[in-house]
Amino acid sequence: MSASALPDLGTLPLPAATAVAPIARALEGLDPASLWWLSGYAAGLARAGHAVPAVAPQAGATALPRLTVLYGSQTGNAKRAAEGLVGAAEAAGFAVRLVRADAYPTRELKDERLLWVVISTQGEGEPPEDSLGLFEFLLGRRAPTLPELKYAVLGLGDSSYPKFCETGRQIDARLAELGAQRLQPLGEADVDIDAVATPWRARAVESLKALAAELAPTAPAAHSAAVIPLRPAIAAALHSREQPFAAELIEQVRLTGRGSQRDVRHLEFSLAGSGLHYAPGDALGVWAPNPAALVEAVLELTRLDGDAPLTLDGIERPLRVWLTEHRELTRLAKPLLVALGAVSKHRELHSLLDPAEAASLSALLSSHQLIDVLREWAGEWNAETFVRALRPMAPRLYSIASSPLAYADEVHLTVDVVGAEDEDPLRLGLASHHLAQLEPGARARVFIEENPRFRLPADNSRDLILLGAGTGVAPYRAFVQQRVAEGARGRHWLLFGARSLRDDFLYQTEWQEHLRRGALQHIDLAFSRDAKPRIYVQQRLREQAARLFEWLDGGAHFYVCGSLALGRDVHQTLLELFTQRLGSAEAANEALQQLQQSGRYARDVY
Ligand SMILES: Cc1cc2nc3c(=O)[nH]c(=O)nc-3n(C[C@H](O)[C@H](O)[C@H](O)COP(=O)(O)OP(=O)(O)OC[C@H]3O[C@@H](n4cnc5c(N)ncnc54)[C@H](O)[C@@H]3O)c2cc1C
Ligand SMILES: Cc1cc2nc3c(=O)[nH]c(=O)nc-3n(C[C@H](O)[C@H](O)[C@H](O)COP(=O)(O)O)c2cc1C
Repeated sequence: MSASALPDLGTLPLPAATAVAPIARALEGLDPASLWWLSGYAAGLARAGHAVPAVAPQAGATALPRLTVLYGSQTGNAKRAAEGLVGAAEAAGFAVRLVRADAYPTRELKDERLLWVVISTQGEGEPPEDSLGLFEFLLGRRAPTLPELKYAVLGLGDSSYPKFCETGRQIDARLAELGAQRLQPLGEADVDIDAVATPWRARAVESLKALAAELAPTAPAAHSAAVIPLRPAIAAALHSREQPFAAELIEQVRLTGRGSQRDVRHLEFSLAGSGLHYAPGDALGVWAPNPAALVEAVLELTRLDGDAPLTLDGIERPLRVWLTEHRELTRLAKPLLVALGAVSKHRELHSLLDPAEAASLSALLSSHQLIDVLREWAGEWNAETFVRALRPMAPRLYSIASSPLAYADEVHLTVDVVGAEDEDPLRLGLASHHLAQLEPGARARVFIEENPRFRLPADNSRDLILLGAGTGVAPYRAFVQQRVAEGARGRHWLLFGARSLRDDFLYQTEWQEHLRRGALQHIDLAFSRDAKPRIYVQQRLREQAARLFEWLDGGAHFYVCGSLALGRDVHQTLLELFTQRLGSAEAANEALQQLQQSGRYARDVY
């Protein structure tokens, strides 16, 4: 056969089964684009008339089974930590797949041989939304025994909460109970995630290498393990969490009336020239610096010199810069109190740190800011101890309230401003206040945080039930705008709750306009302070149970957005309604889980 002629495929002998198996393994998990590319690559080699060139195995490449890295994450920290783990394992030559917990087919668990789990804890010691199904499965009766599994768990949490890293702890313990072998102790990352995650990652890779050496002490890996890079390179986005875009504020208006106890703003930013794209349901991440007045007050209370350089982990900056850009001054966490305990003699503080006082400690952490604590308890600080005890600065997320189809190159937000300047100018919410004081033309550092679990259905003939309270209505503004722009056939039903009709009905005129034009079929409102006794939005759901089931039976998607308490209360209401319908709490629970797992019941609560 000439090298360039295309052979008649029907006349070629089939490859031996032993040759097919490693190919199938190597192709596992590839997307169609990569498979097409690969088929072209193979055809090119065949056309040139030679066999696949031997590729030198990467350092560490072994006959180890593929590693699965599973993550469960609410606001992206565990996802980023998991991606870091994948990068490190791949760099060491191991085959890895990364899977979000709700995309993981639990039936595959019994066949896993190597598993790393990275998972945060939410609520009051609960798993993140994307992990509810996996968690239920793993801790439930259907979980298989796993005698052949080797695993390690990295938990993310915040030691200010009474149930620190609870989900990571439960999963770690349960895998051991199912017979799996723990490769290294559970990692418990507190608010300074990297301080724990980085050494944990290094140890995890070392343990893989040790395992590989055990399994194949002499022979290098078969060539099939050292596959040519397969995934088409995706150009890195110009702007990201680490490299935010300086977005210009176009406009900001106050949405709540003068009589409201809340100051909720509508903000419009330009994304022109950023290359940033988003889908309705995504959030905008915002980085904000600590205000100068707060930084100076903290320096004064700690009696530290803001101009003095401080080197931490090889990076030198003046202390003032550390405090302005790199550490949280408005969010208090336990490590700061522990450090303060070491540099001050206050008896009250020491008794709070007693494990028996966990409840009082968490009450203090949720009601106090750093400035309150420093005002209350003086300590003999040195700059390094102080900065190390503070949380690293983190961006805040805001649900995007606009559709890119309706407002190309813009992003709109609905921001509840935390704290009032006239009460205490040093006790404000960092990012909400930063945004609220921006004038048109000023810029904020932003990025897109994808939220793949809170998206519109691909099929736009599906009906949508949109339940939200307060700023929880923000993503629904984006949803309805997008569906109107697409000419979607599905119906929309909004259930909205706030305090008062007169002052807190966010985007009232827009919803009325949608109703008038037939883009919104139903709106049910609950204004808690206008009624006696107070009424909340879940009560409207109860009243409309017949419509709820009619819509759900027709394939509707149900969304909940707003506070954690709202998420909990609505879930409870749904359980009640499903129990009445199906006759048992167990059946209700199962039905809700199915809805959740199929993506038809999605929550974005914060
Ligand atoms: C996925 C996601 C989407 C979100 N979407 C929105 C949104 O659309 N609109 C919106 O306004 N927020 C939204 N948030 C909340 C937002 O990210 C911030 O947490 C919020 O704006 C407070 O941040 P801050 O920097 O102003 O206050 P911080 O500096 O974080 O907090 C300062 C102090 O105020 C306390 N505090 C924080 N929030 C409140 C509060 N609500 N009431 C009373 N005390 C508080 C803190 O405990 C702290 O002591 C969302 C959060 C997530 C995770
Ligand atoms: C509303 C809320 C509740 C939380 N509850 C807990 C908790 O009970 N225990 C804990 O250890 N951490 C708790 N955390 C802290 C998170 O686990 C921590 O911020 C983690 O880094 C988040 O990771 P993720 O972005 O991957 O979800 C909570 C955080 C939030 C915002």
